[in-house]
Amino acid sequence: MTTTFNEGFLWGGATAANQFEGAYDQDGKGLSIQDLMPRGISAPPSEEPTPENLKLVGIDFYNRYAEDIALFAEMGFKTFRFSIAWSRIFPNGDDESPNEEGLAFYDRVLDELEKHGIEPLVTISHYETPLNLARTYNGWTDRRLIGFYERYSKVLFERYGHRVKYWLTFNEINAIIHAPLMAGGILTPKEELSKQELYQAIHHELVASARVTRMAHEMMPGSQVGCMILAMPTYPLTPDPQDVLEALHTEQGNYAFGDIHCRGQYPGYFLRTLREAGVELEITDQDREDLKNTVDFVSFSYYMSVCATADPAKNVKGEGNIMGGMPNPTLEASEWGWQIDPVGLRIVLNDYWDRWQKPLFIVENGLGAKDQLVEADGVKTVEDDYRIAYLDKHLVQVGEAIQDGVDVLGYTTWGCIDLVSASTAQMSKRYGFIYVDRNDDGTGSLERYRKKSFDWYKEVIATNGGSL
Ligand code: BG6
Repeated sequence: MTTTFNEGFLWGGATAANQFEGAYDQDGKGLSIQDLMPRGISAPPSEEPTPENLKLVGIDFYNRYAEDIALFAEMGFKTFRFSIAWSRIFPNGDDESPNEEGLAFYDRVLDELEKHGIEPLVTISHYETPLNLARTYNGWTDRRLIGFYERYSKVLFERYGHRVKYWLTFNEINAIIHAPLMAGGILTPKEELSKQELYQAIHHELVASARVTRMAHEMMPGSQVGCMILAMPTYPLTPDPQDVLEALHTEQGNYAFGDIHCRGQYPGYFLRTLREAGVELEITDQDREDLKNTVDFVSFSYYMSVCATADPAKNVKGEGNIMGGMPNPTLEASEWGWQIDPVGLRIVLNDYWDRWQKPLFIVENGLGAKDQLVEADGVKTVEDDYRIAYLDKHLVQVGEAIQDGVDVLGYTTWGCIDLVSASTAQMSKRYGFIYVDRNDDGTGSLERYRKKSFDWYKEVIATNGGSL
């Protein structure tokens, strides 16, 4: 079988601590904002953790990591993306010293990955700001968060630097515009948050990302640090130049984050957006210097594309990923309204490669669907041909992009084992190759079962994409 995927291509899966670890108060972990988000971004946060919040238990990876990593190894994973729960390491975010039990947990996870020869890919901050940082500082609106994040990262680099090469600073850093609480730990309700505060928070995250990139390079020579962007290509709804311009403006809202991470300075179009919004950022000379510490690679999530139009009469917002956007009349959608567009992935890969000339890493892609557990020959499984079709079509486009000359480091499917959804906090929105017996009402044995896609992915990896 011929393949276009290079030798050493990093095949694997991706997760986030708050969506699958559970053990929300075990071994000294402090609360994170997610412990108060029982409905994801579809409802305001609760005052206290409530049992209806599925993330408190997640899929109990905290206690079952060895079994789960063995299953990933059985599929042949080359890499595994996971995040470190900030509040496991610094329970309040602003503590002077870290929580040893939290650190020891990730030692154990890394031991297990090493045992199976799986390369770790670590997200430092994935939508799980320590609650105290949200309550006391209003999250990233406060410049002091930069220092807390640096202290936290330094501890991670000291402890795990000798065994983790690939690091991502902030998950979907551009999502803060649409989900300021989830992505920025900002408690001010979105409708009340001023642009001044929002963009200052963004600036703080960008400076923190750059400072930590420099620290990683100093402390861990040979380490590779990436930014992580929510990619959602925006097509003009019609060939009307005004629609094309509208689509470009939407794209620029996302490009800005990659441009700053890759070029080390604010692009002109972004400064214009700020000017026109009456935003005057506090940017120190030191900030400008710090921003020059650019990333080694660009990682991104890709689920769907959207359309844009300048005509207000046609501008309806569809369902879909955190950012939403206008539905494309030519595409079908998942049960949650996320439009399926495999070619869009090839477009993103070409676009980002041409723009930044940095290796790209697809660190999230997948189909959220309702699965039915069935029994065949005494074995419980899920016949998830729809998931196989989705992933296959997307991977074929990755292969095309590689032939277009794009440098792709690897591909990690989102939620390689079923976990709790970020946007809706449901368990029934499943992405995994491994079914986890847990329901939206919290019932279930937490048993794991291999789905049909498990064997399919195993074959894809074994043939380095040749079976696609
Ligand atoms: C990305 C996030 O936006 O999409 C993940 O980085 C999230 O945390 C994933 O889970 C899928 O979204 P959802 O809402 O279906 O879980």
